[in-house]
Amino acid sequence: MLTGTRPEGAQDEREAAARVQDMFARITPRYDFLNHLLSFSLDRVWRWRTARRFARTLRRADASVLDLCCGTGDLAFALAREARGSDAVIVGADFVEPMLVRARVKGRSIDRPVAFSAADALRLPFPDASFNLVTSAFGFRNLANYERGMREIARVLKPGGEAGILEFSEPGAGPLAVLFRFYFRQILPRVGAAISGSGEAYSYLPASVGKFPSPGELAALMESCGFTEVKFESWNFGSVLLHRAKRI
Ligand SMILES: C[S@@+](CC[C@H](N)C(=O)[O-])C[C@H]1O[C@@H](n2cnc3c(N)ncnc32)[C@H](O)[C@@H]1O
Repeated sequence: MLTGTRPEGAQDEREAAARVQDMFARITPRYDFLNHLLSFSLDRVWRWRTARRFARTLRRADASVLDLCCGTGDLAFALAREARGSDAVIVGADFVEPMLVRARVKGRSIDRPVAFSAADALRLPFPDASFNLVTSAFGFRNLANYERGMREIARVLKPGGEAGILEFSEPGAGPLAVLFRFYFRQILPRVGAAISGSGEAYSYLPASVGKFPSPGELAALMESCGFTEVKFESWNFGSVLLHRAKRI
């Protein structure tokens, strides 16, 4: 049975969510810098590609889009850039206020408004069938209950709307994947800890990826929560996956 993330020591969903919230609040000041450094700036490419996959929806004049677990807003901004020329409304939501503060500041230098609002992905403050597209980049894995999170995404999507979940995954086989695994488990946590000052957050990253549902399990979860046409593609030796699906 799929549960949700459990940072070390967290006994239940409430504690897991509180630990996640606290971890991300503490690393906010160095979050963007570390993202780009630790991924050699590939994180920008992954978000840009994700936005490209939804270009058709984004360019609909009436599109309304939710980027869940938006952090400092980078996927929301990539979606906004892809939506150029349309009147699509783009909203970013996260439950860590310092992340949202940073996202709003960054948003001032983007030539298109993106609204950022505080929201818990497990209890979204949006009515049923509000959005044409819901995305999440590297956020879904951090939810304390994956099924509830997926059901919330399905609930706020309009029938025929699309979901996109960009997440890390265990890399596949082959020498480059082995090298990447070593980097991800041994080097990244040390560099992340040294620069962010939070050892916990950057050892939690590979640990939570190791426990995250496999691509097939995540696809099955989407299907069981009201999605169809579920597909996924993998990048970076299988270490980054984009799942896409349509709301029935
Ligand atoms: C790894 S960051 C990803 C941020 C951003 N999407 C990006 O691509 O950089 C994960 C984000 O998920 C948020 N998050 C985790 N659980 C959440 C929840 N239950 N509700 C809302 N946000 C949540 C965290 O606050 C954090 O900002």
